[in-house]
Amino acid sequence: MMSGTWQRLRDKYRRMRYLKAIASYDRFSKAEFFRKQGAQVGEGCSIIPDNLGQEPYLVKIGNHVTIANHVQFINHNGAAWVCRDQDPNLQLFGPIVIDDNCVISQNVILLPNIHIGANSIIGAGSVVINDIPANSIAMGVPARVIGSTDKFKEKAKEIWKVQQPPDMEIEPGADWFTSRHYQENRERLRRHLVKLFWGIDSNQDGGGTHQD
Ligand SMILES: CC(C)(COP(=O)(O)OP(=O)(O)OC[C@H]1O[C@@H](n2cnc3c(N)ncnc32)[C@H](O)[C@@H]1OP(=O)(O)O)[C@@H](O)C(=O)NCCC(=O)NCCS
Repeated sequence: MMSGTWQRLRDKYRRMRYLKAIASYDRFSKAEFFRKQGAQVGEGCSIIPDNLGQEPYLVKIGNHVTIANHVQFINHNGAAWVCRDQDPNLQLFGPIVIDDNCVISQNVILLPNIHIGANSIIGAGSVVINDIPANSIAMGVPARVIGSTDKFKEKAKEIWKVQQPPDMEIEPGADWFTSRHYQENRERLRRHLVKLFWGIDSNQDGGGTHQD
C-alpha cells in the first residue's frame, strides 16, 4: 500500500507531466490530444479547457464546435457514493454528445447522459442536465431552451456591423484567425471598441487580451 506522501508526489508528477504534454497544443489542435485520450472529436473545433473530464472516452464532439474556458465535462455520477455502504464498487457513468457547430460558453457544466443538437448555443454558466434540441439557445440552471440560433445569428450580424473595425483587412481566402493581418486586426478592434464604448481615441498598444 502506497503511503500518503508517495501518493501525493506521484499525483503531482502526473499532473505536471499532463500539463507539459498539453502545453504544446493550442485550442485549434487540442482535439488531437483529446483523441489520443479516447474522445471522439471532429474537425475544425476550438477547445480551450485543458481536459475533457475524467472519462474523455465518453465524450463525443462533432465538427466546428467551440468549447470556452472552464467548461466542465462530468461523465461520472458521483451520487453513486450513497450506494457504496452496501455495494462498495458501484459506479455510474453516462456519455456527453455535442453535435456539429455548437457553442459551449464559459463555465458551463455538462452532466452525464446529454445530447446537444447541432447549431445550438449553451449560455455562460449554465448547467446542462437534459438533451438540448438542435438550433436552440439554452441557458440557466438547469439549462432550458429560451430561443433559436437563427434569431441569434440575425442579431449578431447587426451588432457586428457596428463593432467590426472599419479598417479591418482580411485577404481573400483567409478569415479573422488565419489572416496575415491577425495581430494588426486585433489592435484595430481594440481601438475601435475603446472608441465605441468609452468615446476615447486610443493610440497606445493595448496588446488585446481577449480570446476571440
Ligand atoms: C447565450 C448567449 C449567446 C445569449 O446571448 P443573447 O441572445 O444576446 O442574450 P440576451 O442578452 O438577449 O438575453 C436573452 C435572455 O436570456 C437571459 N440570459 C442571457 N444569458 C444568460 C445566461 N448565461 N444564463 C442565464 N440567462 C441568460 C437574459 O437575462 C435574457 O432574459 P430575458 O429575456 O428574460 O430578459 C449569451 O448569454 C452567452 O452566454 N454568450 C457566451 C459568452 C461566453 O461564454 N463568452 C466566452 C467565449 S470564449
